[in-house]
Amino acid sequence: MQTPPLLRLLLLLQIICFVVLGQSLTSPQDISALKAFKSSIKPNSIPPWSCLASWDFTTDPCAFPRRTHFTCGLTCSPTRITQLTLDPAGYSGQLTPLISQLTQLVILDLSDNNFFGPIPPSISSLTSLHTLTLRSNSFSGSVPDSVTKLNNLDSLDLSHNSLSGSLPKTTYSMSSLRRLDLSYNKITGSLPKLPYNLLELAMKNNYLSGLIPKSSFDGLTRLEVIELSENSFTGTLQSWFFLLPGIQQVNLSNNSLTRVEISKPVKGNSDLVAVDLGFNKIEGNLPVNFADHPLLSSLSMRYNRLRGSIPLVFSQKKSLRRLFLDGNFLIGKPPVGFFSGEGFISGSLGDNCLQGCPGSSQLCSPSQKAYSVCKQAYGGKPRS
Ligand SMILES: *[C@@H]1O[C@H](CO)[C@@H](O)[C@H](O)[C@H]1NC(C)=O
Ligand SMILES: *[C@@H]1O[C@H](CO)[C@@H](O)[C@H](O)[C@H]1NC(C)=O
Repeated sequence: MQTPPLLRLLLLLQIICFVVLGQSLTSPQDISALKAFKSSIKPNSIPPWSCLASWDFTTDPCAFPRRTHFTCGLTCSPTRITQLTLDPAGYSGQLTPLISQLTQLVILDLSDNNFFGPIPPSISSLTSLHTLTLRSNSFSGSVPDSVTKLNNLDSLDLSHNSLSGSLPKTTYSMSSLRRLDLSYNKITGSLPKLPYNLLELAMKNNYLSGLIPKSSFDGLTRLEVIELSENSFTGTLQSWFFLLPGIQQVNLSNNSLTRVEISKPVKGNSDLVAVDLGFNKIEGNLPVNFADHPLLSSLSMRYNRLRGSIPLVFSQKKSLRRLFLDGNFLIGKPPVGFFSGEGFISGSLGDNCLQGCPGSSQLCSPSQKAYSVCKQAYGGKPRS
């Protein structure tokens, strides 16, 4: 949307007028919010060289030029604050609920500081927000339900905090959201239904549990990256999962999944490039249909409970560059293609029950399991 020329001229005149007459330019509502914001930060956590130290309210925050006061941290357009991006100076304090008065804010970025306490639910008043980044602070409490009312939000990054509790059931209602990062928190419960425009989902290193439910991912045709490692997901990863049409990278390592179903991609179309399912409890054979994903270049199923032999197709697959299958109970002779082909594959087939894995190949290290361990796994004592 373009501002009409006449209106622009008027705004310009208004700005000149304010500057010349020394009157307040910034909207009073925004000034009071900024004052509240600064006063909720511990003064001894504001270094003299920092942005916040230059916030001196004897001058107007949006007045130009900014030689000594309000030198950084804020963007105005022209009388309202549209961006609050703090420097990582180690500011410590709570985020004031009065932040909600900055109703024209498009970007709020407080990353790499020491903000603590709850994310104020009133943040839902910031309906113009595109980017909300509170990464690497010490925010606690749960992700407020009201955050999901931010309909224009494109990117939400609350990673590396101490957020707990379960995720809002209305998470899906953030209809513009393309990037969601809640990694490295203490979030519990199951995955909610997710916003359908999502491209990147990251919730690594939390306490999420339960199944990876189809209902959470229904209609997510654009999702490219799924990073859910280091949680407590259980059960079967069903065949719909790798058929998500946009899917490229998946990391579900360090969970407690017990089975993986994977079918051939529809009409051979798949953008899947990298899959990490290491450190789970996956039983059964190495799923041969992974080889039908034409771009797959990196696959890890290390430290699971895989049995059976390694299908020949994996050694014939040109796209495959990294293959980690160590720490399973794979048997038989590994396909010779792994050791003779021109294509270079890195990774490991070690710590299995393989026979004749050439010790000269880096793929065969570490060494295979002891015969007795393998014998017991295959027909030794039945599992309780
Ligand atoms: C997947 O996540 C684990 C744990 O966070 C990490 O160690 C591993 O490098 C990741 N895998 C890939 C392929 O990036
Ligand atoms: C994944 O789990 C394994 C086995 O429990 C552990 O040794 C490893 O440190 C974990 N990796 C990460 C990145 O947490």
